[in-house]
Amino acid sequence: MNALRPLRVLLAVVLGLVAGGLGYGGWLVLRPPVDTVGRVGFEHPLRVPPLAESTVDGGGVRRFALDARPGVSDFGHGRTATWGYNGAYLGPTLRLKQGEKVRVDVHNGLPEATTVHWHGMHLPAAADGGPAHPIRTGGTGTAAWTVNQPAATLWYHPHPDGRAEEQVYKGLAGMVIVDGSGPAADLPSRYGVDDLPVIVQDKGFEDDGNFRVPNPLGGTLGILGDTLLVNGTEGPFLDVTSSLVRLRLLNASTARSYLFAFSDGRSFDLVGTDGGLLAAPYRTDRIEVSTGERAEIVVAMKPGERVVLRSLPPDPDGGTVVRQFQGGGDRFDVLQLRAAAALSQSRPVPPHLADVARLDPAGAIPRTFELANRAINGQKMAMDRVDVVATRDVTERWTIHNDDFMQHNFHLHGTRFQVAALNGRAPPPPLSGWKDTVNLRPGDRIELLVRFTDYADPTTAYMYHCHLFKHEDNGMMGQVVVIDPGQQVSLGHHHHHP
Ligand code: C2O
Ligand code: CU
Ligand code: CU
Repeated sequence: MNALRPLRVLLAVVLGLVAGGLGYGGWLVLRPPVDTVGRVGFEHPLRVPPLAESTVDGGGVRRFALDARPGVSDFGHGRTATWGYNGAYLGPTLRLKQGEKVRVDVHNGLPEATTVHWHGMHLPAAADGGPAHPIRTGGTGTAAWTVNQPAATLWYHPHPDGRAEEQVYKGLAGMVIVDGSGPAADLPSRYGVDDLPVIVQDKGFEDDGNFRVPNPLGGTLGILGDTLLVNGTEGPFLDVTSSLVRLRLLNASTARSYLFAFSDGRSFDLVGTDGGLLAAPYRTDRIEVSTGERAEIVVAMKPGERVVLRSLPPDPDGGTVVRQFQGGGDRFDVLQLRAAAALSQSRPVPPHLADVARLDPAGAIPRTFELANRAINGQKMAMDRVDVVATRDVTERWTIHNDDFMQHNFHLHGTRFQVAALNGRAPPPPLSGWKDTVNLRPGDRIELLVRFTDYADPTTAYMYHCHLFKHEDNGMMGQVVVIDPGQQVSLGHHHHHP
């Protein structure tokens, strides 16, 4: 042990206590912004999560099984104790088709209760895997629904009451791909070949190889690591064999936001966001993805070249001093793309990708949500309190205001929404499609058009919350119950069990 350590601990305690109220993060006070650009070896082939196996039962239901369990992983730091689904770290990718009936049995092999939430999935509240439906140790929970939404990149992760941050940090997360038809069928779609999950997570490692456990004094945003894993691979490279490659970027970090760009500044096509494909590809050279969000990009490669996917500082102007300590100045090398000497020719990105029907704001029911002090409208999550009662098939206009000194984002379960305005202006192209999670910098005001369709259930709530997992765990979350006209809300009074 280093002789300066007691002094550093004392300094960290003092600074942590002083700065905690201001939003600094304990240990982070003692170190400059993280910068791994040029320092990542790219020695490991990018791991591609396997596609989940399934069987179709006599009723035509495609059945999946997930087993959440502890394991041991080797990321290059020795033995790391991790959790995963059907393996030691992360989980298989579920590939689903529009219109099919699916059922997932989740066995809990962990030493504590968990749930599996289907982030971005349009399904009944009873199948949503929220905190009101824990699966106890040794137990099995079942979710069943019909896939009823357009092609999109979704994901699954735990959502237990107060324990989501730690469970996700240990490795519980996986991707869901909903396949569609139409013009977008021309996009690269060979899984693991020219269509890849890119699940980005930041970690800290202890000397013994284990993940660094969050410092209780630090990190108002939650855990901010200094090492990236992509699909559970540290220092990954990808061999590209086609002229276009589609990357499904998923931020499955517990707190950090990324501003993805390429090392040579090349442009790429943003083709999809959380809830599905954009109407048309958007040509850009950077895309911000906050915790829980997804972005599908298509990038062109030339034979034999190498280029690195990076994350630039999310606050390019430096942001405030407080933001510097919240990761605003950090940058990372993420993934190296290595093009083969000869590339197969991909079909061009179609100029029209999807029909994105706009929700009509006329007569929308207004609601406001103030994000501040790790609460929403001054209240912490309470499982026996319903914050919003929404009527099925009625459009609402939700104004979300970040009235805080730190970043928050906003995620809604059960449906997708459209961004009507960001700080009084029309949304930029990356916010023009269907979304389920949006980032809010300090002071941002964002207007969403929200409409719950298909499923009403007066006994079970959907959640909305800040998707920084620590904030979610600390109660920055509320409940919305969707009813049909005339129904009475009666939480927890289930008339049937699926
Ligand atoms: Cu991905 Cu309620 O969360
Ligand atoms: Cu969700
Ligand atoms: Cu937050």
